Amino acid sequence: MAQTWTPNSWRQKPIQQVPDYPDLAVLDSVEARLAKYPPLVFAGEARRLKSALANVAEGRGFLLQGGDCAESFAEHGADTIRDFFRAFLQMAVVLTFGAQQPVVKVGRIAGQFAKPRSSGVEKQGDVTLPSYRGDIINGIEFTEGARVPNPERQVMAYRQSAATLNLLRAFAMGGYANLENVHQWMLGFVKDSPQAERYRKLADRISETMDFMKAIGITAENHPSLRETDFFTSHEALLLGYEQALTRVDSTSGDWYATSGHMIWIGDRTRQPDHAHIEYCRGIKNPLGLKCGPSLTADGLLELIDILNPANEAGRLTLICRFGHDKVAEHLPRLIRAVEREGKKVVWSCDPMHGNTITLNNYKTRPFERILSEVESFFQIHRAEGSHPGGIHIEMTGNDVTECTGGARALSGDDLADRYHTHCDPRLNADQALELAFLLAERMKGGRDEKKMVVNG
Ligand code: TRP
Ligand code: MN
Repeated sequence: MAQTWTPNSWRQKPIQQVPDYPDLAVLDSVEARLAKYPPLVFAGEARRLKSALANVAEGRGFLLQGGDCAESFAEHGADTIRDFFRAFLQMAVVLTFGAQQPVVKVGRIAGQFAKPRSSGVEKQGDVTLPSYRGDIINGIEFTEGARVPNPERQVMAYRQSAATLNLLRAFAMGGYANLENVHQWMLGFVKDSPQAERYRKLADRISETMDFMKAIGITAENHPSLRETDFFTSHEALLLGYEQALTRVDSTSGDWYATSGHMIWIGDRTRQPDHAHIEYCRGIKNPLGLKCGPSLTADGLLELIDILNPANEAGRLTLICRFGHDKVAEHLPRLIRAVEREGKKVVWSCDPMHGNTITLNNYKTRPFERILSEVESFFQIHRAEGSHPGGIHIEMTGNDVTECTGGARALSGDDLADRYHTHCDPRLNADQALELAFLLAERMKGGRDEKKMVVNG
C-alpha cells in the first residue's frame, strides 16, 4: 500500500461493481471531456467540512446526512430540491435547538447517482436483463435498450449535479435558510402532519429568541450565521472513472481532491482493502465515509482506518454503521472498542436504513419502528461505551411518499402502492424524517444532561 498514489492508480487493482460498457472508446472520450469541465465543489469547502467533522469526532456536534437513495434524471426539478431542502432544514433546526449542539449538514445529493447491486442481472418472468445501476450508468426501465450502460449519462449526471448544487447554494446562502423563516419551512404537506404541532411550538420559541436578540441589536442583517447555513454534498464514490475525471489538484495546498462532492463514501460491498475503491479514496483529501456492515471485523476496520487515515486526522473519516435493528448490539460494541483502544479519531454515524429492508406486498420497504430501534440501540451502545454518537445517515425525501411503513401516520403495507416513487431503496417521507429528528434531539439531549450530571456530581 506504500506505492505512489495517482488519480488513476485504482485502475491497477481488482474492482467490484463495474458496468459493462459496450464501447470503451466512447467511455474514454466522455471521461476526457469531463476532465476538462469545471469542478463542482472546491477544496476549501471540503476542508471546511472536514474541520466541522473534526469537532464532531471530538464530541462537539452532530452530523446530519441524508437524501435520496438514488437521484434520478426524471425527478430533477426545482420543487423536489426545495422540498428536500425544506425537510432537511426542519430536521436540522430541531436537532440544533432541541439538543443545543451544532449540526453539520450534509446532503446525499448533487451526485448520488450510482448504485451497487447484489446481482448483476434482474429477472422478470422469463426475461433476464442487466441490473439497473443508477441513472449515471443505465436506465431503470426493464427493456434491453435501457439497461445497456451509456457513458453519455455521466455528462447528464454532472450537469444535473451542477444545477442542483447551484440551487442548494442559493437556498443555503441567499435567504431561504434564514432562521427568521423557521415557520415557513413547515408549509407543504407537513403542515397537517402529526408532527406539525410539535414543530410549531419549537419554531415559536426560536422566533421569540430571535425577537429578543433583535431587541438587543443582534439581527440577521448584522449576523450572517442567523441567515446562512453551511450545506455540503456527498455521494457514494462508486463509479471511479467519473470520480477520476473530477479529481483535481488544489492550487493552494498542492493536494488532490475529489471535486464531484464535498464528502464521498465507500460502500459496504466495495471496501476490500487491496481493491480499487479504497485505493482511489486513500489519495484524495476530502472527508470520507466508510460503510460498516455486519461482515466487517474489528481488525478489518483497523486496517482500513490505517489506509484511509494514516495521520489519524479528526474529521477525515466517518464510520457509517448499518447493521440492522437486530444486529447492532452484536456488532457495534466490538468495533467501538477496537477503535477506542487504538485511539483512532472517527465520527460514529448511524445508518438505520440499509440493515432494515424487508419485502412486503412485493415492495421493498423499511418499518419505521425498526429504524427507530436501530437508532435507539446506537445511542445506548455509545453511552455504555463512553463514545460519542456523532451522526445519522438516512434516505429521505421532502415529498409525501409511501415507501417506509409506520410512523405517526401508521402507513401500512397496503398503503405502499399509493406513492411509491423511489428509484432504488425506500425513503423516509418528510413526516417520518421530522419524527425521527424529534427522537434524535431527545436522545442527544439526554446524553448531554447525563454528562453534565457527571461533571457536577
Ligand atoms: N448558521 C447556523 C447553522 O447553520 C444557524 C442556522 C441558520 C440554521 N439557518 C439555519 C440552523 C437553518 C438550522 C437550520 O447552524
Ligand atoms: Mn440505498
